[in-house]
Amino acid sequence: MKRLRKLLLLNVIGIVLIIYNTIPDYRTNRNTFPHLQSTTPFRDSTDKGGFPDVIVIGVEGCGNTVMMNFLNATGYFQVPNRTTYSSDFFTGNWERGEEWYRSLFTQENGQRITIENSPHYFYAYPPTIPQKMLTLNPNMKVILQLCDPIQRAFSCYVHNHKHYTPNIAGAFAEYARVHLLQLQGELNTKIDFHHQERHVLSKWNSRNRCIQAGLYVYHLERWQKSFNHSRMLILDGDDMIREPWTSYAKIQDFLEMPKLIHKEDWVLNNKTGQYCLKPSSRIPKPPLCVQPKSTDIQQPKEEIISAFTTFYKPYNEELFKILGYRYPWQ
Ligand SMILES: *[C@@H]1O[C@H](CO)[C@@H](O)[C@H](O)[C@H]1NC(C)=O
Ligand SMILES: *[C@@H]1O[C@H](CO)[C@@H](O)[C@H](O)[C@H]1NC(C)=O
Ligand SMILES: *[C@@H]1O[C@H](CO)[C@@H](O)[C@H](O)[C@H]1NC(C)=O
Ligand SMILES: *[C@@H]1O[C@H](CO)[C@@H](O)[C@H](O)[C@H]1NC(C)=O
Repeated sequence: MKRLRKLLLLNVIGIVLIIYNTIPDYRTNRNTFPHLQSTTPFRDSTDKGGFPDVIVIGVEGCGNTVMMNFLNATGYFQVPNRTTYSSDFFTGNWERGEEWYRSLFTQENGQRITIENSPHYFYAYPPTIPQKMLTLNPNMKVILQLCDPIQRAFSCYVHNHKHYTPNIAGAFAEYARVHLLQLQGELNTKIDFHHQERHVLSKWNSRNRCIQAGLYVYHLERWQKSFNHSRMLILDGDDMIREPWTSYAKIQDFLEMPKLIHKEDWVLNNKTGQYCLKPSSRIPKPPLCVQPKSTDIQQPKEEIISAFTTFYKPYNEELFKILGYRYPWQ
């Protein structure tokens, strides 16, 4: 009887090992699925369309749509054949299937780069989104734009509530009072990083969403397991406003594309303080300017900012350590 149990146990260990060994490790070998390249080509010469070469994965509220407008204006990109740049394929539209996804990119493509922007992917459920992307296109690249998580949380809240909340700063303060404490309490009970990460991820569609999305360090780990430095570009959303040419130079290098947006194309609008792209032979009809300023919205109170600063600080510090770069957030 004892021996049987021992055998069973060894068997179970054996099976676990076998299963473990068949889980592809994207970190060490990106081409674990060479057979998929032939059965599900990510570039199809027929009219079925292709999977994207690059996906902007976030973060919502850090100026990704504006960035997409400038990239789209170069004419060098193929964007989804929809009214927005997003597909939400790996979240809400997964059930529609791969054919649907490919059909978004059926326009004439020539040498153009296929791109889409679904900026909640960065913090969205399920945790397997990065692996799923690479299964469809093993050469996939991702762009992530980060910005001050406090401002981001506020603009997320405003975005969701402005139509029916007149005192938006007051409502945000109330929201913060309840949810900051709650999230902090929940994180404190999940002692190790992995449990906290899972917990934060499980909240992506909850009322905490505006706050938990800003716990960047938890989400980043997950993406870096699948996308190494050569496949993941991380941008500073504030640069995009202060000196947009540096961000576009990085994007053009990262995507190994012609330099279509130059530093000297940007002019400062003295009235609004925004940078605008002037028409050139490369981009005859540019979209107007970087991030429009919203002056009509009250800003959150000082005490709320300070509560958020305390809350995010340890997570930001951990993030800066991983990135080897300090963002200018307080
Ligand atoms: C992208 O650019 C094309 C060509 O200018 C335009 O027709 C299309 O509406 C733009 N896409 C979006 C989502 O704005
Ligand atoms: C976009 O898709 C619709 C139907 O799926 C098609 O009729 C239309 O021609 C497409 N537009 C472009 C620019 O490919
Ligand atoms: C990243 O991935 C590429 C392509 O698989 C590989 O050549 C490169 O060595 C990797 N770089 C790092 C830093 O792991
Ligand atoms: C903006 O201000 C600078 C310096 O004050 C001035 O030289 C320039 O002509 C102004 N540009 C416009 C478009 O008003």
